[in-house]
Order: sequence, then structure tokens, then C-alpha cells
Amino acid sequence: MIRLVGVSKVYASGDRPAVDGLSLDVAEGDIAVLVGPSGCGKTTTLKMINRLIEPSSGTIEVAGRDITSMSPSQLRRSIGYVIQQIGLFPHRTIAENIATVPRLLGWNAGRISRRVDELLEMVDLDLAMRTRYPAELSGGQRQRVGVARALAADPQVMLMDEPFGAVDPIARGRLQDLFLELQQRLRKTIVFVTHDIAEAIRLGDRIAILNVGGILEQYDTPADTLRQPANDFVVDFLGSERGLKRLSLLVIGTVPLEHGPVLAETATVDEARRVMADHGVDWIGVGGDGRLDGWVPAADLDGRHDLSGLSLRRFQSWLTVDASLIDALDVVVTSRTSVAAVFDGDRYLGMLTAEAIARAIVQ
Ligand SMILES: Nc1ncnc2c1ncn2[C@@H]1O[C@H](COP(=O)(O)OP(=O)(O)O)[C@@H](O)[C@H]1O
Ligand SMILES: [Mg+2]
Repeated sequence: MIRLVGVSKVYASGDRPAVDGLSLDVAEGDIAVLVGPSGCGKTTTLKMINRLIEPSSGTIEVAGRDITSMSPSQLRRSIGYVIQQIGLFPHRTIAENIATVPRLLGWNAGRISRRVDELLEMVDLDLAMRTRYPAELSGGQRQRVGVARALAADPQVMLMDEPFGAVDPIARGRLQDLFLELQQRLRKTIVFVTHDIAEAIRLGDRIAILNVGGILEQYDTPADTLRQPANDFVVDFLGSERGLKRLSLLVIGTVPLEHGPVLAETATVDEARRVMADHGVDWIGVGGDGRLDGWVPAADLDGRHDLSGLSLRRFQSWLTVDASLIDALDVVVTSRTSVAAVFDGDRYLGMLTAEAIARAIVQ
């Protein structure tokens, strides 16, 4: 959907290129994240895609057409753009801000009004916001308006320049959740710029890691980038906890689960002691037929014959197969039993240990 071939930009005042021979393909419906240190040419690259800046050399195609064959204004109306620092018009209401492109496209007032309502709802903002001015909104709300404005004319392609840059981590996390939810539904082709590697890993289908001078160091899926960084710059940029970052991308469903030390309540205490010894644990789970009712410490078995009638402790956190391995690891290290039990509704599927999670990382 978007193709850059050997694109360079040398500013008149610059002694070195801002972007240097950049080639990049973005498939339809994908989010490509450009990430790199400040000044590495991210904003310059975005602006070349909608012709706010003309490349010094190279070609750019959008939906198979060389963008120099389209008029810049026609091109810009067909691409949603969230500019760095949001850039809402301060003297226009929220509704007027969102309506910017539909108005340029000559939509009638009724259609614009309905679309504004629809978009406010989409980005989870109250309809009462319509008549407010940007200064009367919180940072997070303004960023939602920026996204709504870029989506207004339902463009196939979106360019987003640090759209969630100026908010606290909690608001940022919520915006990221909302963004991913919207993208599930809308399947836009998006080039998303950030300097935050965690955001890139979370949002990108692929991430392009840029170095100063607009040099592309690696363009890969987040998982492949973390597993196999191309060079020392990428390793440095990915930062510490590369293994943990990979765990956040892997879901429980990709790892084989173990039945674990779990017996029916008809099992004898002798049997339970054997199973605990085999697993190297000092507790036994009780359940059966796709149930895991709870567990007891070994000491509770003293003086008993079987596992019936025990007062069971609950496994505190129930995980589902779509939870991440980092969530599973968190349960493992915070629970008394050192395992993460996995359920589908009420049905017990199996459990994960720290060892199983470690094996998943090295694969
Ligand atoms: N209009 C301009 N004129 C001259 N140099 C510029 C201009 N805009 C950006 N630059 C330079 O180009 C490089 C890349 O800038 P930019 O694309 O804004 O980086 P990023 O968005 O990754 O922080 C920087 O060195 C910046 O100083
Ligand atoms: Mg920038």
C-alpha cells in the first residue's frame, strides 16, 4: 500500500542527509512503526509520504501510484495525518476541528455532523465535547480528537507522528488500547512514528528502526527484531529486558501446558505425596474432569487418607490462553504455588511453570 524506494532528503541547510536511501514497504492493513532517536528523520519521512516535503531523490508510491503523479492537496485529503504536537486549531471547536477534511471535500452539513458524532463515539469522547475548544480538554482528550480528525474522511492510509507523545503513561496506555481496538475494526494502513520502543513493540506489525541520518537499521516484526537484532545499534536501542519484552508479545496459547500436580479428590494421600515429589512441589492441586478446584499445602494432608473434604485454597489469578507470557510470569512469581493456572471459562486447561516460560523464550 505504501512503498518507499531509495528515498533521500537533504535539506538546503543540512550538511548531511536527514533521510538516506530509505526503502520500505507497508502492506495493506498493517501498522508500520518508525522508531529511532530524536532527529533521525522520522517526521521528515512521514511528511514526504504526503508531500509536505519533497524528497531529494527516490520514489514513493501509495496504493500503487507514484505520489508525484497526484496533486499534493488531492493526496493529502486521501491520507489521514496526525501531526506531532496534535496541532488542533485553537479557535475552532472540537466539532469544527474534526470536520476539517470533510469540509474541504465539500460534504453537506448533515453528513458532516453525523460523521463528527460517529467519530467522537469511536474515540470514546462525550458528544458534549462538540462545542468545546481544544484548550478546554485534557491532553489525552486532545489526542483523541487528533485521531478522530485524521479518520474523518475514512482514509485508507494514516500517518501518525507521535500521536500519544504528550500524555502520562496511564493515558498513553489507554490511548494505545483504543488505537489497537479501532485498528482491529478499521484495518487502515498506518505509518506510526514514535521515539518510544515499548510503544513501537506494542503497536507495530513491523517496526523500522532508524539511526541518525535517516539510516534504516532493521525492518522486521517486533518479535523477530527482539529475537534477532540486526546489529549493536538495534540491541542498544531495544534496551534492557529484551527477553521480557519478547514475553509480552507471546501469548499463553503458543506454549504447551502441563497438567501439573493435580489429582481427583478420591486420590490417596500416598499418591499425592508421590505426585508432589515427582513435580518437586510442596502442594497438591485438586480437581478432575476439566476442573481445578484449588490446592492445599502438603502439611494439610497429615493424618488423612485421601484428598476429600480438604479446605481448598484458590488459585488467585485465572489466566486465559490469550494472556501474554509476561502476565503468566507475573502470576508464577507472585503466587504461593509458583505456577500459572490457565482456564477457558470454568474449564481447566493446564498450567505453566517458570521453566516452561523460559523454554518458550529461547525457541
Ligand atoms: N526544515 C528543515 N530544514 C533543515 N533541517 C531540518 C528541517 N527539518 C528537519 N531538519 C533536520 O533533519 C533531521 C531530521 O529531522 P526530523 O525528521 O524532524 O527528525 P525526527 O522526527 O526523527 O526527530 C534533523 O537533523 C533536523 O534538524
Ligand atoms: Mg519528529
